[in-house]
This record gives sequence, C-alpha cells and structure tokens, in this order.
Amino acid sequence: MGFYDDQVLPRVIDKLLGNRRMAPLRERAMEGLHGTVLELGFGSGPNVPLYPAAVERVLAVDPAVVGRKLAAPRVAASPVAVDYVGLDGQTLPVEDASVDCVLSTWTLCTILDVGAALAEARRVLRPGGALYFLEHGLSDDPRVAARQHRWNGLQQKVAGGCNLDRPIDELIAAAGFEVQRCSTFRIAGPKISSFMYSGVAARD
Ligand SMILES: C[S@@+](CC[C@H](N)C(=O)[O-])C[C@H]1O[C@@H](n2cnc3c(N)ncnc32)[C@H](O)[C@@H]1O
Repeated sequence: MGFYDDQVLPRVIDKLLGNRRMAPLRERAMEGLHGTVLELGFGSGPNVPLYPAAVERVLAVDPAVVGRKLAAPRVAASPVAVDYVGLDGQTLPVEDASVDCVLSTWTLCTILDVGAALAEARRVLRPGGALYFLEHGLSDDPRVAARQHRWNGLQQKVAGGCNLDRPIDELIAAAGFEVQRCSTFRIAGPKISSFMYSGVAARD
C-alpha cells in the first residue's frame, strides 16, 4: 500500500463519511442491530457512537492501520467493547455461526472479492442472524449507471479500490441472503457516488 492509500485516504474518508450529515443514515441502517456484531470495514469507527443500546460487543475487521488510530478516541469513549479480530473480510478468523449480526457501511464497494466477503459474513452469522448494510452502488437511472461504469476504473485508483457500480442488493442475494428490507435513495453529492442501498438481509 502506498502513502496515499495508507495515510491520506483513511483521513479523507473519515472527514467525508464520519461527519454529522451521515449520522442519521447510519442510525437508520443500524436499527435492530444487537448482540455480538461483526463490523466489516470498521475504518475510523464512525458507527461506534451510534450503536444501538442492544449492541453488546463488536468484532472489528479492517486492514487500515491509520483507521485504527482515528477510531481510538471513539472506541475509548464507547460503552461497547470493540475487539479487532482481523484485517480482511474475505477470510474471517471467526468461528462459524458465532455472531448475531454483521454490519457493513460503505465497505461492500471496496472489498476486492465482495462475493467471498459476503460468503464469510453468512458463515459467521448464527441461524436467524442478519447482515445490516448501508452502501453506495449502481444507480437505478440508466444514464447515471452508464457513467458509473465509465468512471469505475478511475474511481478504483483514487479511492482505494472503491467501485461505483456494484448492484449491492443483487450481490447480497447472490450470496444466499434473504434481503428482507432494502431502501434505495440518493444523497447529496456527485450522482455517480450518491445512490444508496440501506437494509437488512437474513442469513436464512
Ligand atoms: C469507504 S471506507 C468505509 C469505512 C467505514 N465503514 C464507514 O462507514 O465510514 C471502506 C473501508 O473498507 C476497508 N476495507 C478495504 N478492504 C477491506 C477488506 N478486504 N476487508 C475489510 N475491510 C476492508 C477500508 O480499509 C476502509 O476502512
């Protein structure tokens, strides 16, 4: 990883996604989150102050060292215990059927083999467990979608491997989840990166 991806990008992401404007979206996406939660792409921990009271413990997974430093004050101030358990969502060092929920916010866009990460998420969830997600992805407007496909290569280079054009709900369903709730909507910002998917998908 170069200096930009390693040192600069996590700070930029923290400013862009860790701000107050995103908090209501995060809170809505986490409604119902409970028990032991595995958080994929924990980053700088912007969800930590917003976890619902029913969250008992968080297992954090993220490769970014700077993200961990930025997260430290949020983790220290939180009543919820956060344990770093791994660096890569594609291979989770976590037992089968051992967590109540998996949480992913703005992360399924970035993981290289998103199918592998979703399969791992499903593996570690208990029967009856669920994946809670808030992600940007492929727009439902064909003109915007065409632009997303066109700009995807550049986006991956400047944004740490982030993809603009992943059909998030389809990918989750293809991994064997039952998408129980999924709302799609636009937030402020460039159209190519502001089409959102937020919802819950059950393991079985
Ligand atoms: C756009 S940031 C989102 C961070 C945070 N989840 C949020 O809501 O602001 C994407 C995160 O995914 C992490 N990431 C990239 N590849 C990953 C992988 N293979 N497994 C787990 N996390 C990964 C990055 O380090 C980064 O923290």
